[in-house]
Formats: sequence, structure tokens, C-alpha cells
Amino acid sequence: NDLLHTLAVKAGKKYFGTATDNGELNNKDYTKILNNKKQFGQLTPSNGQKWMYIEPEQNVFNFTNGEVVGNLAKKNHQILRCHTLVWHSQLPEWVEFGNWTKETLSAVVVNHITKVLTQWKGKCYAWDVINEAFNDDGTFRETVFYNVIGEDYFALAFKTAAKIDPSTKLYINDYNLEARSDKTRAVQKLVRSLKKQKVKIDGVGAQAHLIVGSTPSREAQIQNLQDFVATGVEVAQTELDIRLALPANATNLAQQSIDYENTVAACVAVKGCVGTTIWDFYDPYSWVPSVFAGEGAATLYFEDFTKHPAYWGVVKAL
Ligand code: XIL
Repeated sequence: NDLLHTLAVKAGKKYFGTATDNGELNNKDYTKILNNKKQFGQLTPSNGQKWMYIEPEQNVFNFTNGEVVGNLAKKNHQILRCHTLVWHSQLPEWVEFGNWTKETLSAVVVNHITKVLTQWKGKCYAWDVINEAFNDDGTFRETVFYNVIGEDYFALAFKTAAKIDPSTKLYINDYNLEARSDKTRAVQKLVRSLKKQKVKIDGVGAQAHLIVGSTPSREAQIQNLQDFVATGVEVAQTELDIRLALPANATNLAQQSIDYENTVAACVAVKGCVGTTIWDFYDPYSWVPSVFAGEGAATLYFEDFTKHPAYWGVVKAL
């Protein structure tokens, strides 16, 4: 058996999943793999629940794209991870460049979270409530939310989400959280502080956008995931991909397999790590080439739908 979700469940995890996007769903060869819950037992919409699509104008909501992926997960009996509520990127201009006071922007955040959580109430296993709020040195990223509301925006967002949908797990999600660093320590400090204030936070998401050849070791990843679990939350690998310097060849693909294996194995080894989500499974649908010049082949399937060696690395880890 080489089906990833089935193997993950046997290994004691809740799921092995993938991100997917609306524009990809008319590719039959792609959806045949996507819709197999034994392969992917969990879906995340890559874009459809982001602020710019959901609330493009103030208090005008459009849930269509997010609903398509959510309904597909339901039809396929796949777990839905929901992504994301408060993030500096893919924000509509009215939010990013609005003339806000602490009071008016707080009201906007509360309204957004209230409407979105109500829409998906009871349907999301987890929500990435806050995304990418930290700099790599552990300081707070100076987003419109931080600049206008200050540190209080964390508690505000989590409290609002908890009130509207008490059944969904509330996550903070970020990149470069895969090995101990100033950034991981800052996130742990925030989790402890929210818990001390009795604000509900259930999970930390390590995005795991990694690089072939510089992926942290299995041991470093295990130790790091355990640090998060020690703060009293669960953890998940939420956006795993491991990019390489193009072109792909036997050498970098072999290293990629090792890096995928170590990363997935780290989640398997840590009891509080609930599962791994890859940030799409098919190279042509990966965000990597458009953002990192000269890099790509970051997923588990090549353009012709043959599997990367890394697919078998993941199978080994599970
Ligand atoms: C990416 C999507 O995959 C792209 O389609 C989009 O153009 C930009 O965003 N961190 C995140 C994800 O939390 O939402 C991002 O997704 C990748 C980085």
C-alpha cells in the first residue's frame, strides 16, 4: 500500500493532505488523484478563503471559491483545514491602506472573522487564524494589524474565532518554524502568553516551505515540534513543499526524497503532530516557480503525473 493518507492514519496521524485551488479542479488527471481520500485525507484551499477573495469590499462577502473546495472535501469525505483569517498578504487595498484607528480596524477584524467563521461553522477541522505574524528575528511583523492595533490583535482574533466556532481548532501559522530559532521561540512565547490570558489557541502550523539540501535534520525537526507541543498545543505541517534549483536531476531529486522523508518522519515521531499537508501535489500547480526564480519541482508529482522519488521518501516516513 502506497496511499499517503491511509499510511498516515496507520502511523497514528489524523491525516495526510494537500492544498488545492479552484482553477485546478477541471483537470481530470489531477482531480482523480485529489479526490482519492486514501491518498489525500485532508484539503486546504490555497486561496479561496483569503481576505481579498472573501471580503473584497468592506462588508461585501463572497464565499464562492472557498465553498467549492470545502464542498469538494465534504463530498470526498476529506478533512478541511481552513486558511486564513488575519494575514498581511493578499489583503484587499481597503484594509491595507485604510485610514484606521485601533477601534475601527478592530471592528473590521471582528466583523471579518465573525462572518467567515459563521459561514464555515462546524466544517473546518482547524483555522489558520493568524498567518505569518513574525519576522525571522522573532520580532512582530509590522503589518497594518500590528501597526494600528498593536499586540492586542492576536488575542482579539483568537477570542473572536473561539466565540463564533468553538468546535474548530485555532492555529497560528508561519514559515521558518521547522527548526529552533528566534522565530520559533517568539511563537512559543506568544502561545504561552495567550494561554496565560485564557485565550483559546489550539495549534501551531509550521508551513514547511523548505529547500532541497538545507532542510533541517530529522532530529532538529523532532526537537522543534516537541518544543511547540510543550507549550500545550498541537502542531501540524501545513504547507509542505521542498524546492530545488532547476533543472531537476537524479542528484537533487535523491536529496529531495531524503528531505521529504525526514520532514514527514519528524511529524510521525511527535505525538502532538497531527498531520502533514503538502502545498499542492503537482509541479505545474505549485506556487514555487512564480515566487522563487529558478526554483521548482517542489511537489511529489511531475508534469506528466509520474511520481518524484520523494513520493517514496514520504511513503518510507509513514
Ligand atoms: C500562495 C498560493 O499558493 C498562491 O497561489 C498565491 O498566489 C500566493 O499564496 N504561505 C501561505 C500561503 O500561507 O497562503 C501561500 O499560498 C504560500 C505561502
